[in-house]
Amino acid sequence: MKFLKIKEAIKLAEQQENKTAQVSIRGWVYRERKMKDKSFLVIRDSSGIIQCVVKKDKVSEKEFNDAEKALIESSVEITGEIKEDKRAPEGFEITVTKINVVQFADIYPISKDQSPEWLLDNRHLWIRSRKISTVLKVRATILGAIREFFDSRGYFEFSPPIFTPNACEGGSTLFEVKYFNDVCYLTQSWQLYAEAGIFALENIYTISPCFRAEKSKTSRHLAEFWMAEVESAWIKLDGMVNIAKELIAFIIVRVLEKHEDDLKLLGQNVEKLKKLKLPFPTITYKEALDVLEKKSGMKVEYGKDLRTIEEEELMKHFDVPVVVTNYPKEIMAFYKPEDPTNKGTALCFDMLAPEGYGEIIGGSEREWDVDQLKIALEKEGEKPENYDWYLDLRKYGSVPHSGFGMGVERIIAWICHLDNIKDAIPFPRTMMRKSP
Ligand code: 4AD
Ligand code: MG
Repeated sequence: MKFLKIKEAIKLAEQQENKTAQVSIRGWVYRERKMKDKSFLVIRDSSGIIQCVVKKDKVSEKEFNDAEKALIESSVEITGEIKEDKRAPEGFEITVTKINVVQFADIYPISKDQSPEWLLDNRHLWIRSRKISTVLKVRATILGAIREFFDSRGYFEFSPPIFTPNACEGGSTLFEVKYFNDVCYLTQSWQLYAEAGIFALENIYTISPCFRAEKSKTSRHLAEFWMAEVESAWIKLDGMVNIAKELIAFIIVRVLEKHEDDLKLLGQNVEKLKKLKLPFPTITYKEALDVLEKKSGMKVEYGKDLRTIEEEELMKHFDVPVVVTNYPKEIMAFYKPEDPTNKGTALCFDMLAPEGYGEIIGGSEREWDVDQLKIALEKEGEKPENYDWYLDLRKYGSVPHSGFGMGVERIIAWICHLDNIKDAIPFPRTMMRKSP
């Protein structure tokens, strides 16, 4: 017997003149309603749901009794006639001629009106929900789109180590782990290793997990998240900003090609996404402060980083992603160089998403003056000698180079219109949660 995915079964019926076909499907009971002489089982698989009717006079007595006993999440194999039925949830219904209950489920603990925390405690089951499973499908498309984007441009995928001896983004959010008789840290970013990699491969990217002991309980921070990162030799800030914009536009195209219905199910306005076309604006940090003051009456002292509330306020004036460059050098990570044409600012950028989804990308050119790097490391409270291997990279044919990191879950949360970044990853890790 050949089992079709529910979506394929519906398609097969749609292709027939009389809109019916003999099909076999398998999946899990999503909803059930039992009557005296028939049972309605809505079955779900990874492609969709379909209503199946088990009628007493169409199946054996054992099959009818089994269907009656099958509770939500029981696994089943079903054969029958699929036909158009405008009253059914997906417009099609299967009249069952054969049913095999593969496993009778216990009473499923998830029903309506459970708290978000309870659902997170039961995440191992909740990922089956239509909401989370739909987000996970979009996630898979986004991961594929990132790879396609870079592969098609000749970039090499370059895998970083996860155990590292150094901080990349400041010591305060490092996770320390026992390492044999020593300690080391979980990576915050692949960047320092990528800066070694470009001297071998020139244009490289990765999609890898990153870890940050974020003490903030926001809807945007995870302790374990995935970052898509890129690093290129010979490319300066402007070139990197363009790659970032093109990547975002490409991801949106691929998601829209495959997931219009999924996005609607998630409550996303698809028409709004379709309008997100290049070019996206680039402004400087200074110009961002001006917009905040003139358009929002919000005065931000020059030199302060943009916090969530300022980013949100700024983005009320834009409906596409915006790149902000030239943040004050003082508040930037040690590897971001000063802009020689705009003293006191760094050759760096963030990309902010519309609708309050905040910073989705952070990137920069990389400092190559060893003395400047040492000064900046000391300012961050780091010992430059711990970075000897990194400083070495400036001694053997250094070249201008740049890169950026894109928060995969931030992109997913924005594109899927999620309230919280936790729903963008199968098993979220935060300060408050490390299980299941
Ligand atoms: O801006 P960040 O800290 O930049 C870096 O780590 C650079 N070393 C990247 C590079 O140039 N290769 O982080 C990059 C992006 C942020 O813009 C954000 O989207 C995401 O990573 N991010 C987080 N996402 C979820 N939870 C967190 N705790 C995150 N911290 C950063
Ligand atoms: Mg950043």
